[in-house]
Amino acid sequence: MERTLSIIKPDGVAKGLIGEVIKRFESADLKIAAMKMIHMSKKEAEGFYAVHQGKAFYGSLTDFMSAGPCVVMILEGLQAIAKNRELMGATNPKDALPGTIRREFASNIERNIVHGSDAPETAVFEIGYFFSALEICG
Ligand code: CDP
Ligand code: MG
Repeated sequence: MERTLSIIKPDGVAKGLIGEVIKRFESADLKIAAMKMIHMSKKEAEGFYAVHQGKAFYGSLTDFMSAGPCVVMILEGLQAIAKNRELMGATNPKDALPGTIRREFASNIERNIVHGSDAPETAVFEIGYFFSALEICG
């Protein structure tokens, strides 16, 4: 059993895709262990994406992530990190496989609907960034 952090980004929320994305997770046997809607400040988005500090897309990405509400979730299941990344598809929707969330719904490489942790260590950091132990049901 593994946990991963998922975010439905501001573009996914604005496009009315919360239910669509959650349906895909539940259909793939990923259980929601915690969930809330938040609107990050620019500073909070910068802290979340600190690993990308200095990259050309960092400023625009953190503007986008703080421009509207997100849904943040902890997903739990067998190989949850890899399974979530598979459902999401590649970062650039042009490279994402047909049927994946990003291929079906993303506008471009930045506005790509969902975030998912990429490794066990990043999942621990990202879950702790948004959730306290008391908020996790599992
Ligand atoms: O989200 P993922 O792990 O697939 O990609 P990342 O390389 O960790 O990048 C984080 C986020 O930055 C992406 O999901 C995009 O929203 C954004 N990004 C971008 O705007 N331009 C790029 N060239 C790469 C990433
Ligand atoms: Mg990443």
